[in-house]
Amino acid sequence: MKPDITDKANEKQSQLIVLVGLMGVGKSTIGRRLAIALGLNFVDADDEIEKSAGRSISDIFDDFGEKAFRDGEKKVILRLLGGSPLVLATGGGAFLNPDIRAAIAAKGVSVWLRSSLQELVRRTDRRNTRPLLANGDSKEILAELIKQRHPIYAKADLAIDSDQGEHSETVTAIIQALRNYKEQNQ
Ligand code: S3P
Repeated sequence: MKPDITDKANEKQSQLIVLVGLMGVGKSTIGRRLAIALGLNFVDADDEIEKSAGRSISDIFDDFGEKAFRDGEKKVILRLLGGSPLVLATGGGAFLNPDIRAAIAAKGVSVWLRSSLQELVRRTDRRNTRPLLANGDSKEILAELIKQRHPIYAKADLAIDSDQGEHSETVTAIIQALRNYKEQNQ
């Protein structure tokens, strides 16, 4: 049966679902599937940043530096949060920005996808598109990011473990958590 979470158009908090968490937790893959399950559009913020800059995230970091990337990231995410209902996958650093966090809190429901260090290393080692992992040992860098960022991701409305089982199980767990959240916040 189709989840009833999209039933009422006025339930803004259930309509804008924002996935946050570290690189490699599966925000894009799970977000895409979650959007299909809920009948919502899916947008990947990093893809949008690449489109508007006309270059890859790595090239943005190389050509303009991280600060310019973060400015672009903020602009793109604030724009997306002002638009129509969707599932939005954010880049791992976005939720650290207090303005982005405040806008997400005002417009939607945030879901922290959480994985073990071992799983993050396994997943991020498959691709070398992430500038923050380009220079150094990915395990060490990710361990440090867990220390720095997990307390901030913990400010999200919901937290779901994404390193066990199939993606479909994670999607089901998110939908259930969103239902509970909706009931508690009605
Ligand atoms: C970053 C995560 C990346 C991307 C950029 C910076 C971060 O997105 O936005 O490389 O600061 O953690 P993913 O989390 O989708 O890999």
